Amino acid sequence: MKITISVIKADIGSIGGHIKPSEKVLKTVSDYVTKNGKAFIKDFRVTYTGDDIAIMMSHTLGKLNSKVHKMSWDAFVAGANTAKSQGLYGAGQDLLKDSFSGNVKGMGPAVAELEFDERPNEPFLFFAADKTEPGAYNLPLYLTFADPMVTPGLLLQSSLTKGFKFTIMDVSCTKGDRVIELNAPEDLYKIAALLRDTNRYTIESIFTKDGQPAAAVSTTRLHNIAGKYTGKDDPVCLVRCQHSFPATGEVLAPYAIGQFVSGGMRGSHNMPIMPLKQNSPTSYFDGPPMVSCAAYCVHEGKFTEVADAFDHPFWDYVRNKVARKAVEMREQGFFGCAMLPHYELEYGGIVEILKELDKKFVMRK
Ligand code: F6R
Ligand code: MG
Ligand code: MG
Repeated sequence: MKITISVIKADIGSIGGHIKPSEKVLKTVSDYVTKNGKAFIKDFRVTYTGDDIAIMMSHTLGKLNSKVHKMSWDAFVAGANTAKSQGLYGAGQDLLKDSFSGNVKGMGPAVAELEFDERPNEPFLFFAADKTEPGAYNLPLYLTFADPMVTPGLLLQSSLTKGFKFTIMDVSCTKGDRVIELNAPEDLYKIAALLRDTNRYTIESIFTKDGQPAAAVSTTRLHNIAGKYTGKDDPVCLVRCQHSFPATGEVLAPYAIGQFVSGGMRGSHNMPIMPLKQNSPTSYFDGPPMVSCAAYCVHEGKFTEVADAFDHPFWDYVRNKVARKAVEMREQGFFGCAMLPHYELEYGGIVEILKELDKKFVMRK
């Protein structure tokens, strides 16, 4: 059976600043999907990570389907109305367009979708990150799908030794989807040369060499849509696991690094990313940037209950390490690598100051 898993996610308002959505907003979104999706949605889950709500759905209508996208957009509009009625902060923040046109790409919400022939047993992972950008998944996915130091399956499992095909997007391009396809391990250094630049190049999808979808990442850059800072992109990601894909533990392993990503306060800092349980709020310094991971199996389009992958004592050690790294970076405030380089800064104030000062520079004779 060919099914599609679609995740559509948006920040439509939160309690106490950019912390978490209210119960009432979550219920509004969930009730809307129950009522309006029942004719074509096989199953769904509504969850949150920081201030973002994700609707994860299964159906048979394929990717970028207008019915699925429109229903999700309308569910977020309904949620945003509840957020407004409760006086939540940033109500409707990620709903950047007034009218719906075909699918939610380029309208504000983030979307990741996988369409595949469902295996008799089909484990997969749903990641949601808050206070960061899509490039936050570059390092973990690169390590999982291309580095046998992290994924011994690339050496040990014959179905994995052929490697994977990466589609990488230049997210600085605003004219359309500018993409390149590269193969691991053949093009390993080329893949690495692009992915190190997490602000500009983002993994969009990963396939097996025989064309089976393995991973999908949302590539929305809100800054490009709104033309100014309206909140960080807060990307979502889906990964299929086991057998001809990396094992669940091989997909999770890189999150023990707590790598530095763009985000945190005003979307303008380098901060380590913290693996947290689903439905965790934001806290320190409007962060730290966070990622949750929900593990499921899907069978005939029905999701099992969730196994929360970062809800385990091992990740307490990682969270403590990430907290330490975050505080150490914060000790240098806005200096050097603690704040993003000027061309990535999205807040008006500093951009205007620098423009003004530039005119006053003189070339000494
Ligand atoms: C991060 C984020 C927050 C806000 C900050 C200021 O993605 O959204 O760090 O940038 O709290 O918010 P405003 O400008 O809405 O007061
Ligand atoms: Mg957010
Ligand atoms: Mg937000």
